Amino acid sequence: MTRRALALWVAALGVGLLGTGAAGELPAPARGIEAGRRLFMESGCHGCHTLGAMGTPIGPSLTGLGARWSRDEIERWLRDPSARRPRAHMPRLELSEDQVQALGAYLSSLR
Ligand code: HEC
Repeated sequence: MTRRALALWVAALGVGLLGTGAAGELPAPARGIEAGRRLFMESGCHGCHTLGAMGTPIGPSLTGLGARWSRDEIERWLRDPSARRPRAHMPRLELSEDQVQALGAYLSSLR
């Protein structure tokens, strides 16, 4: 394992997203921008990403993501980063389809 991969692994463990992940913990209705914003805060995305002034710059900044990526691209990425980029360092997160869509709605709204 490279040092970078190891650091990412430790970060992912730290935010509790591998193995028994955050899936299924979000109360219904789990859709829409507001649900996505809350989910972003609760899912540990800040453990590897910055958004505005918050977060840790291990992965790319997500500030203004909606101006760069479509909602569809964001949702496909969250379902499985390695499907888009075979050597992706971002782990595949344990997200339900509702959670993927809420995060897609929120992140694509960031301009
Ligand atoms: C363990 C670290 C880690 C966690 C946790 C993490 N990411 Fe990532 N993410 C990365 C890395 C590293 C990249 C850069 C691409 C790559 O090599 O995988 C990335 C890339 C991305 C990208 C593509 C951005 C771009 O401009 O290329 C999006 C969107 C994204 N992450 C969203 C999220 C969301 C939403 C969450 C929380 C549900 C999250 N990430 C949690 C590490 C992480």
